Amino acid sequence: MTAPSFETIVNLATKRGFVFRASEIYGGLRSAYDYGPLGVALLRNVKEAWWRSMVQLRDDVVGLDSAIIQSPRVWEASGHVGQFNDPLVECVSCHARHRFDRLEDPDRCPTCGLRDSFTDSRDFNLMFKTHMGPVASDSNLVYLRPETAQGIFTNFENVRRVARLKLPFGIAQLGKSFRNEITPGQFVFRTREFEQMEMEFFTHPDHADGWFQYWVEERHQWYLDLGMDAANIRLRSHAEDELAHYAVATYDVEYRFPWGWDELEGIANRTDFDLRQHSEASGKDLRYFDQAAGERLFPYVIEPAAGATRAAFAFLIDAYHTETVRDAPRTVLRLDYRLAPVKVAVLPLSKKPDLVEVTGRVADALRPHWDIEVDVTQAIGRRYRRQDEIGTPYCVTVDFDTLEDEAVTVRDRDTMAQDRVGIGQLRGYLGERLGAG
Ligand code: GAP
Repeated sequence: MTAPSFETIVNLATKRGFVFRASEIYGGLRSAYDYGPLGVALLRNVKEAWWRSMVQLRDDVVGLDSAIIQSPRVWEASGHVGQFNDPLVECVSCHARHRFDRLEDPDRCPTCGLRDSFTDSRDFNLMFKTHMGPVASDSNLVYLRPETAQGIFTNFENVRRVARLKLPFGIAQLGKSFRNEITPGQFVFRTREFEQMEMEFFTHPDHADGWFQYWVEERHQWYLDLGMDAANIRLRSHAEDELAHYAVATYDVEYRFPWGWDELEGIANRTDFDLRQHSEASGKDLRYFDQAAGERLFPYVIEPAAGATRAAFAFLIDAYHTETVRDAPRTVLRLDYRLAPVKVAVLPLSKKPDLVEVTGRVADALRPHWDIEVDVTQAIGRRYRRQDEIGTPYCVTVDFDTLEDEAVTVRDRDTMAQDRVGIGQLRGYLGERLGAG
């Protein structure tokens, strides 16, 4: 089985309505995307799987949802105003702008091919700026957050106090972030508006190394548990000159994308950088009082920071398989059932009213438990293929025998094996395979 090409995945994602170009009726907006019915379900499922594993199933992590627009002082203290820059060069011939550190050949413009045509590299700050209120002036300049993490640091004391937390503990948050990337691209991989899933884990400095290793392994395992092929995922340690301004150590979880290995998630040891910075800048003491030791200290922070939109894209690529079944090609998304946008498709064998009526009854009974789709059009074989292509784990077919025996045929997406199941037993049968719902 060879990996799908980039074009194949983009075609599937757009043809099946996972992803649309933003503002498409106006010609689109470069590198901005909207998520269609299947895409939003996949993305939501990725975020839910993350929240479940990072917050719900743990007794040492709580959740937060902070504002996208914070005081600009947050970004001054965090170092983003001064240091969240990428090196920008412009070709003096074609005026294309490039990120200097990502050029394959630093002396040749990849757009027009000219040599030695770049301006000197200058720092370009990636934060989006806007103004708060009706007048645009320097005094009401604000930024769209480039990471969700800072809302966690500024709420460290609020959350610790109300949730009565003792070290070690984590605060998790997911939501939109914005970066004015110089070179967005590769479809939804790198966009200027995207969703992150981040958790800041606060620990005594003496235990930071151990927790760093722990979270690197946990986060690697999360992708594997959700069905990602181990051959397509790896861990890579950052070299000294790659580290962000706040980190002393970072591992990336990388995925083998169609263009090569690239980042899915970073797990960083941020030390006490952020809490110290915010303490100094705000004048509020954000140290933690360790009762056992009788000392005040700045906890260290281990941060697993993932991209939700990027992870959804990687899961889509990883799930894509083609095979030949009875001399016919079959495309199947082998998505883990937790991620699949539609869990069960209910299909009447024909459009005859009595079959459609039973189909509606079966679908209504399952709908409170799982995402259900009813499809009455086309030949049954084509409808199976369509469900395979969007990753639906089970198809339930209502046929003429159903009218006699009150049973339906359940087809498994991966094995294509079929079971006859009584309508009264259907919920239990599916519950064993899809979780209680
Ligand atoms: N708080 C740390 C932080 O933001 P990061 O490595 O810059 O670290 C974390 O970002 C994750 O967010 C990345 O691993 C990636 O999955 C996602 N991400 C970052 N920039 C992105 C972009 N322009 N488009 C889509 N996802 C992005």
